[in-house]
Amino acid sequence: MKIITAVRGFKDILPGETGKWQYVEEKAREIFKNFGLSEIKVPILEKTELFRRGIGETTDIVEKEMYTFQDIGDEYLTLRPEATASVIRAYLQHNIHAADPVAKLFTIGPMFRRERPQKGRFRQFHQINVELIGLDDPRIDAELILMLICFLKSVRLSDLGLEINSLGCPGCRPSFREAILIFLQDKKNDLCKDCLRRLDTNPLRVLDCKMEGCGEIISDAPKLLDYICSECRDHFEKVKEYLRIFDVPFEINAKMVRGLDYYTRTAFEVTTELLGAQNAIAGGGRYDRLIEELGGPDIPGIGFAIGLERLISLLPMKDEEFAIPPHLFIAALGDEAQKFAYTLCNRLRMQGIRTEMDYSGKSLKSQMRRSNKFNSRYTLILGKREIEEKKAELRDMKEGTQETLSLDNIEETISNIVKRM
Ligand code: HAM
Repeated sequence: MKIITAVRGFKDILPGETGKWQYVEEKAREIFKNFGLSEIKVPILEKTELFRRGIGETTDIVEKEMYTFQDIGDEYLTLRPEATASVIRAYLQHNIHAADPVAKLFTIGPMFRRERPQKGRFRQFHQINVELIGLDDPRIDAELILMLICFLKSVRLSDLGLEINSLGCPGCRPSFREAILIFLQDKKNDLCKDCLRRLDTNPLRVLDCKMEGCGEIISDAPKLLDYICSECRDHFEKVKEYLRIFDVPFEINAKMVRGLDYYTRTAFEVTTELLGAQNAIAGGGRYDRLIEELGGPDIPGIGFAIGLERLISLLPMKDEEFAIPPHLFIAALGDEAQKFAYTLCNRLRMQGIRTEMDYSGKSLKSQMRRSNKFNSRYTLILGKREIEEKKAELRDMKEGTQETLSLDNIEETISNIVKRM
């Protein structure tokens, strides 16, 4: 019978790879804690309406990438394509803002988008997602970006670029939209199919179209930064000023509009040249209108998400560096020795000593081979004679030395040896 394989674009993360994942997630937890964040866990399934309203009806995500289905109760549900809308929903649903509007939250988990799979692009992928809610001070924007850069450096990523832009506010954006529409009026025939459609629904998205033809057209399009109001300009200037205080290098990318509709003012992306077309490791921005649009009070927010598959593919470390070998491997020959080994093995594990054994009772040579495969530091050799004489041989696999240990107090003896490692 043929085996059943995973769904296209959905990837297994195998045991050899999970060490890197744990390392990255733990580093994020450690660094985010220093910046005052708390972890939140939200469901991966939400009512479809949440993303329609939150991300925007005319975005690529909502138009064509969501995994939406009707459950047997006839409700429309969607596997979350991102986490911001869910985190804000939880913030509102549990009235978190009533006690204190300021909430600094992060969540780690899978997201789902039905995009065309390619290098660095999956249909199930994972994000570390951060939201700082309740503050519109430009210092918060800079602090959030600083934390992101600090985290990326802590996992030894280099050659990254930070691009920032201001997307203005509902007050100043319409004039820019107007300018873009006028600019594109006589260029319609040269736009790609998607952009032609976007002209009516979401003309700003034309700005960051990746199609070659569109790229050429928009190279001298009006710039959003020339249209933002004085408050938005002032906010943006301050964000830049604070970034400079922390020596965080950045570039202005006036064409960056981001793929989700909730953004206002600061938007940013961290990119790399090493990933080909899917060059964004992380992206985010301010969303000062989103909470109100989701039925809550007028509370601002800003956040970002890091794509974990992309980040992990760039780590300079090898998978093997994260392997955790056992402290001890027990090679046991004969029924009595196997019985003794089985009890000892689990007793040591309960004391926090990573112990493995061979359950096959095969030759000593084959068991030693297995110990080598596990890369165990020590091997305890137990045979019929050792059991009778109440002793065992402990081989230090690194030094190549061997010593005889008494089986009386063997747990304690091994414990002490391992603690000295
Ligand atoms: P986003 O730019 O859509 O933002 O996604 C953030 C990151 O997730 C991307 O930079 C990329 O690394 C990764 N990513 C996105 N799609 C895929 C995919 N199909 N395969 C692999 N990786 C992918 C958001 O999701 C916003 N919710 C971020 C945010 C939080 N803004 C404010 N708060």
